[in-house]
Amino acid sequence: MKKTTWSLLLLCMLGLLLAGCGKETTEAEKPTATPAVTSEAEPTNTPEPTSTPEPTPTPTAGLTESLYQHYADDFRFGTCVAGAYLKYSKVSELVLQQFNSITCENEMKPDALLDQYQSRAQGKVVVTFSYNTTRILDWAKQNNLKMRGHVLVWHSQTPEWFFREGFRNDGALVSREEMLIRMECYIQQVFAYCDSKYPGLFYAWDVVNEAFTDDGDGLRNSNWYKIFGEDFITEAFRLARKYAPSGVKLFYNDFNTYINYSNKTKTDRICNLVTKLKAEGLIDGVGMQSHLDVSFPSADAFVNTVNRFSALGVEVQITELDVTTKPNAAGWEKQAKYLESIFKQIVKNDRNKTANITSVTVWGVSDKLSWRGSQHPLLFDDNLNPKPAYYSVLQ
Ligand code: G3I
Repeated sequence: MKKTTWSLLLLCMLGLLLAGCGKETTEAEKPTATPAVTSEAEPTNTPEPTSTPEPTPTPTAGLTESLYQHYADDFRFGTCVAGAYLKYSKVSELVLQQFNSITCENEMKPDALLDQYQSRAQGKVVVTFSYNTTRILDWAKQNNLKMRGHVLVWHSQTPEWFFREGFRNDGALVSREEMLIRMECYIQQVFAYCDSKYPGLFYAWDVVNEAFTDDGDGLRNSNWYKIFGEDFITEAFRLARKYAPSGVKLFYNDFNTYINYSNKTKTDRICNLVTKLKAEGLIDGVGMQSHLDVSFPSADAFVNTVNRFSALGVEVQITELDVTTKPNAAGWEKQAKYLESIFKQIVKNDRNKTANITSVTVWGVSDKLSWRGSQHPLLFDDNLNPKPAYYSVLQ
């Protein structure tokens, strides 16, 4: 290895040792001085806005009902949004008319906020909120919406370099001690930026997402697990509780939270985790993603799981609701009946305190904008018109 590279590496290692969670870069900016190391790649925190299909116009004119107003006394009603959609006035109009909560579909995930270029230049984890993200947060703030933060610690959409020596994509995994410093730097910066620029905007945060496997012996073999073992979950919640502004509720978020495989159910695992975290005052609720299908799970199984989590003395938030069905009239009817059965029960249970639901979020505004649009999973169709499912949720 050339002499210069060794000295650069030495500089970098020295930087690491001295690194604390000092001043962070939180606005997308290019370093003025030449960075100590040349990054392998250009800053990747400002990906081009995705070219999204422009939804053909017009939501049904004169929609008289609003989902969030209908449930104003029960829970917040939200949707996920992608920044690229908000430029379509019909989409943003519909969001403001129907929802009082939004979640960034991708723009606040680790790969959107962690800045390899600056981390390598400064020798410590740097978080950068790029335009792709701030345009959504600005829009929410201007329109008096509240937000769910999604997501701090996850196995997916989290860059490899974050776990590796020198913040290099091909470095060795760092030690537990080093990763704890990096985790703290990351979580501290995310909350510090949001609290300073968007005070009061966020009411909930997914601290850890999808840590459990659907079957097998439990925890997903992620980089987090490889470095920390199962403690990464507790460490994440300890840091989130330490740095989250007061009033921001902290959630464990997962999908298929209602399934039983062999003798150990995912529900049991989540209940055990919540009980443990709650004993330390670290968790406020369970996020049930709720990516459902009209054929599974049964409405009863879903509702019973909501009740089981509520019985632990925590909040339940339905965080990513969509229901796949056949893309035809019969499929839409089935979807409407399925959602009617679920909402009838969860609203009744929430009102009689069997359940403690504090927000419901659908994972997208319209089928065309959904990650699984071909199965027509949402409440509004490709033309932003309400489907039978919309009216059944309002029943
Ligand atoms: O931004 C890039 C764009 O620059 C590029 O041209 C394009 C084609 O490669 O990809 C774009 O990134 C995509 C991103 O969505 C933004 O559109 C990724 O490939 C794609 O994988 C990513 O999918 C997201 C998925 O999470 C990734 O895991 C979905 O939109 C999002 O709805 C989905 O949401 C997750 C929740 O966060 C967690 N629970 C499950 C849920 C569904 O998977």
